[in-house]
Amino acid sequence: MVIMVASCTKEETMEELTERVFKRAAVQMEYLDTVLDSVAVSKPGNAVYPRSIRPDGTFWESNYKWWCSGFYPGTLWYVYEYTGNETFKELALKYQSGLEPLRYRTDDHDVGFQLMCSYGNCLRLTGDQECVPVLIDGANSLSTRFNQEVGCTRSWSFGKWSFPVIIDNMMNMELLLKATELGGDDSLKNIAIAHAHTTMKNHFRDDNSCFHLVDYDPETGAVVGKQTVQGYADNSAWARGQAWAIYAYPMIYRFTKDQEMLDHAVAIAEYLLPRVPDDGIPYWDYDAPDIPDDVRDASSAAIMACGLIELSTYVDAEKSARYLAMAEKSLRTLASDEYLAAEGENYGFLLKHSTGNKNRDQEVDVPLTYADYYFLEALMRWQKLVK
Ligand code: GLY
Repeated sequence: MVIMVASCTKEETMEELTERVFKRAAVQMEYLDTVLDSVAVSKPGNAVYPRSIRPDGTFWESNYKWWCSGFYPGTLWYVYEYTGNETFKELALKYQSGLEPLRYRTDDHDVGFQLMCSYGNCLRLTGDQECVPVLIDGANSLSTRFNQEVGCTRSWSFGKWSFPVIIDNMMNMELLLKATELGGDDSLKNIAIAHAHTTMKNHFRDDNSCFHLVDYDPETGAVVGKQTVQGYADNSAWARGQAWAIYAYPMIYRFTKDQEMLDHAVAIAEYLLPRVPDDGIPYWDYDAPDIPDDVRDASSAAIMACGLIELSTYVDAEKSARYLAMAEKSLRTLASDEYLAAEGENYGFLLKHSTGNKNRDQEVDVPLTYADYYFLEALMRWQKLVK
């Protein structure tokens, strides 16, 4: 006689998964602090921030100017938000304080990432009004990079371009929108809106994928070139670029309620969804010729999940279900052993398998501090949605 035993392993709920991931994140982020302390010993007076793991397997730190410096304090803020454990608030403040000089930085566009992840989350969670002038100053500094002819803020101040604007820069617009909301000048919001419109017009292709970089003539505003820097090819769909786009347009809609921004976000989502691999984790470029034998970019999955979760709240039930299903798929894979670091490993980074700049053979298949940040942000967004 054959006895059939039905397998009754119940799938972990998203609440259970979130609990498990934040427990791991708490351990990892405390460990990461000790790693940073040990690096800081050899750099007296300089705050150090996590970046990644070097090809030789050693820990890779950055200084406060590196575009990613806000993500570790931001990750600590999310761990504090979820756990309520004051240790993480103290750690967040410890790393945030080193970023304060960025409020006056005018030679780079990434003050938006840096200040919103740190001071922005601090204000949101603690109500500390001292964050407000830091955010408004940062937005005013960023606004100096706006060119009326072009209709965009300039991204990089280096390189061979005349006025380069990268899709990533859409993310920095949140600082401008937030600053106006906090009492900053209306012109800050108007710059963000102009930037979003110009980017929508010039960065996106007919299929709603986007170029990485558009170069402009700063005198006339004319487009002088469209290309990639970190993607596989000028005409390819670099995964993180697409992820920045699907995060940013719902965010712009949140502030502006401009239907055109929402329609554009939906168009990006409809382009992306059929292209995402079955496990919800994009390869580093959707058009990389070596797929499936190529590296993934976990960061793009985490960023995309954030965007899809927000977008799901603005659309009809059918779209909403599809966007959430994709986000859930990505989050479940990121929370699996394949992507989630074991306790005490990975130098304290939470996730494995992100790709920063494959073209330069830099940060390939490694942890990246922003993958951790957006993974936790996505889980928090999910939690708030179901509550
Ligand atoms: N913002 C730079 C990157 O996404 O790699």
